[in-house]
Amino acid sequence: MIALEKITLMPEGRQLFRDFSLQILDRERLVIVGGSGSGKTTLLRLIAGFVAPDEGRVILDGHTVSDAGKILVPPHERALNMVFQDLALWPHMDVFGNIAFGLKLRKVPRDEQREEVARMLRIVGLEGFETRRIDRLSGGQKQRVALARALILSPKILLMDEPLSSLDPELNRKLRKEILRLHAEFGFTLVYVTHNEEEAREIGERIVRLPS
Ligand SMILES: Nc1ncnc2c1ncn2[C@@H]1O[C@H](COP(=O)(O)OP(=O)(O)OP(=O)(O)O)[C@@H](O)[C@H]1O
Ligand SMILES: [Mg+2]
Repeated sequence: MIALEKITLMPEGRQLFRDFSLQILDRERLVIVGGSGSGKTTLLRLIAGFVAPDEGRVILDGHTVSDAGKILVPPHERALNMVFQDLALWPHMDVFGNIAFGLKLRKVPRDEQREEVARMLRIVGLEGFETRRIDRLSGGQKQRVALARALILSPKILLMDEPLSSLDPELNRKLRKEILRLHAEFGFTLVYVTHNEEEAREIGERIVRLPS
């Protein structure tokens, strides 16, 4: 379970969260909606451990990972992964390099990396794309690479920040279905940010609205 307990956050003196509490159950699909600047990305960054709360705690599976100004467990040691609002792929690298990055850090043998990447590419419908450079991919293809990169380490928690917002409506709907299918297959906890009400209703079992 993810628990945010009485979080207060005042970036540059402006109050963004005050006494904000939220619990997210294992395998739940929670969607966060709210206007621009309401703190959606910041909420994901709090859970991931890129931002520390000024007051309050972040608790993952009973372990306090951030506590009043301190990050106790850094992002890479949390059993989670994040798909960033701008995807944050490495444009000059190929698809394999991007997806295998986390496996390399964990010193997974090269053969195993190849197998795992090929398996993920099949899952997201990009079979055989290993050697394609990121800057030669379409928006939807990049999105799939970002999904594959986030899922390859089998995270317990997947944080997604408006992952489909740059796509046309048809591709947006198609990838929504894909995300639901991947959730059913992998069983991660999903915290998903969007502006799109239709997307929120389809992805979310529960929707939290941040006040603007
Ligand atoms: N590191 C930071 N330092 C200071 N202020 C910040 C920082 N990060 C975010 N903010 C501010 O906190 C507020 C919330 O930002 P955030 O990025 O979480 O909004 P958002 O809901 O994701 O917006 P959008 O829908 O535009 O992506 C904004 O006013 C932003 O300027
Ligand atoms: Mg944002």
